[in-house]
Amino acid sequence: MRIKKLVVSALVLSGLCVFNVRAEDPVAGNKPGSGLYPNDFGPIEIDVSGYPKEMKQNYRLFAFKCAACHTIARPINSQYLELSAEEQAAAKTREPEIFKNAKIWHIEDHIWSRYVKRMMAKPGCPVQGEDGKKIWQFLAYDSRIRKTGAQRQAWKAHRKKLVDDFRTNYHETYEKIFLEDNDKEEESHEKH
Ligand code: HEC
Repeated sequence: MRIKKLVVSALVLSGLCVFNVRAEDPVAGNKPGSGLYPNDFGPIEIDVSGYPKEMKQNYRLFAFKCAACHTIARPINSQYLELSAEEQAAAKTREPEIFKNAKIWHIEDHIWSRYVKRMMAKPGCPVQGEDGKKIWQFLAYDSRIRKTGAQRQAWKAHRKKLVDDFRTNYHETYEKIFLEDNDKEEESHEKH
């Protein structure tokens, strides 16, 4: 099967322990109607052993609650990176690269709080009240750790592969998902 092969080759290629556990078959892990994203083909686990205690607790909550409709690969391998206006200004001088490809790093203030709220509004979502805030805090924290600074290049390679494979295997869905980003990329003429 094409997907199994993909998963196996992705496993072999990514020597990183953070990127080890993947959904066997991402399509099967998603409930009907929940769509399909490049994210779904990445790992379904984060190594949080180095995270503060509170974030470890929030991670458990997130991993349990956000897996009701699609696997947690979807948020784990997402391009979303929540940075405030101030943080964005600082990052622009420190690591301008992260502003160049929205498919790898989609940077926006409040992006995770907005998405958590969007998910909470869906019928049957088990996330309620304070849990939403804790999950949002985890996603905002974790994205900074795994997608910027020392982890920036590893994140880029990992996410780029997911997006490239998805483009090959699910071209129509790819076009739909990245309609806006494609326009942006053409404008900025990013070289790879
Ligand atoms: C009730 C079902 C349901 C639950 C529970 C759920 N999701 Fe989703 N999720 C969806 C559906 C359906 C989509 C497809 C896009 C959309 O409708 O927003 C989606 C898409 C996503 C995306 C991709 C969005 C994009 O445009 O790139 C992310 C990230 C995501 N969910 C994160 C989460 C997080 C975090 C949680 C837990 C707070 C969660 N989901 C819980 C149904 C759910």
